Amino acid sequence: MPLRSRIAGTGMSVGNRVVTNADLTQWMDTSEEWIEQRTGIKERRWIDETQRPSTLAAEATYQALEQAGLEVGDIDCILLATLSGEHDFPGTSFFLHEEIEAGDIPCIDLRAQCSGFLYALQMGDALIRTGTHRRVLVVGAEVHSTGLDVSTEGRDVTVIFGDGAGATLLEAIDVDDDGPGVLEVRCHAAGKHARRLWTEGPSSARMPRIDEKMLEEKKHFPHMEGRFVFKHAVTRMPEVLLETLGAASLKLQDVDLFLFHQANLRINEAVAQRLEIPKEKVRNNIQRLGNCSAGALPILLAEASREGSLQPGQLVSLTAFGSGFTWASAVLRWG
Ligand code: UT7
Repeated sequence: MPLRSRIAGTGMSVGNRVVTNADLTQWMDTSEEWIEQRTGIKERRWIDETQRPSTLAAEATYQALEQAGLEVGDIDCILLATLSGEHDFPGTSFFLHEEIEAGDIPCIDLRAQCSGFLYALQMGDALIRTGTHRRVLVVGAEVHSTGLDVSTEGRDVTVIFGDGAGATLLEAIDVDDDGPGVLEVRCHAAGKHARRLWTEGPSSARMPRIDEKMLEEKKHFPHMEGRFVFKHAVTRMPEVLLETLGAASLKLQDVDLFLFHQANLRINEAVAQRLEIPKEKVRNNIQRLGNCSAGALPILLAEASREGSLQPGQLVSLTAFGSGFTWASAVLRWG
């Protein structure tokens, strides 16, 4: 019997510090109204000195294992998506591996920025479908706060980001057409726009990788052509969402819950409007958590499953857009 992967457990963890829009006004020339009106964000969570990307990921992992009724020893492979590596090398997945004492199972970091969780989900699903592994931990983990320009110069980027990790435990099951599991994942990229949303340094393409001049020019902080990114996001997200549903022979009306990447509430409202998706079918948490990049979608999924708003048999559509550019979508049947 051919195999399919289902999500057996979910978990999430966010920064301990609540940073409100009012807090940001103390460091930069901005206003609570500007941030809330343009992005929908009221507050975000940033890490404190006790937290690291890998500890957020570990907490999310333990929750996912508990929900699945499994133990660390049951995991065969770890895939961790992030754009904010804990160190230059090795990848954050290795520090998560250490944190949860994962024995000698393989772990892989995947860099596809805000679409990273969906890229990792596609790979985890493929590893299961090919029979390579039976249980794959797929994590999105991000700590932005330690790398943001909190002065007025960085205000466009800094106000949107939060710290958080989400984890899902993928498990092999036999294919049953109406049964639960990941039905389709589609991923895309456009490297020609890589420099429109990026952090230039440190860079292994230069010697030294970072210098005083680059620091003075704030090349170690993320820079974004916000409007350009916004326009591409509201075009690409509906495109890939429909492509993915079509590949699964599903219609928009079949979907019970739509989860979008949490970069800007206005982006998600525009996507929902274009596709005529009713408000009650969309779940957002950016108002409370800001943009946790690769962590955003698995955190949303964990929140939805924990609150009981996901019933077995329901169809969930997940869609993201981010730096790279990358965009991706997945559809799965819960259960
Ligand atoms: O997660 C990865 C994908 N990322 C995204 O999808 C983000 C997409 N982009 C966006 O969400 C929006 O472009 C932002 C929220 C980042 C910025 O909003 P915007 O409406 O596109 O603003 P803008 O960058 O075009 O700037 C408009 C004005 C500028 O002032 P002037 O030149 O008109 O005088 C900015 O300097 O707003 C100013 N501005 C701010 N003012 C107060 C930019 N950021 C701020 C701020 N507070 N935080």
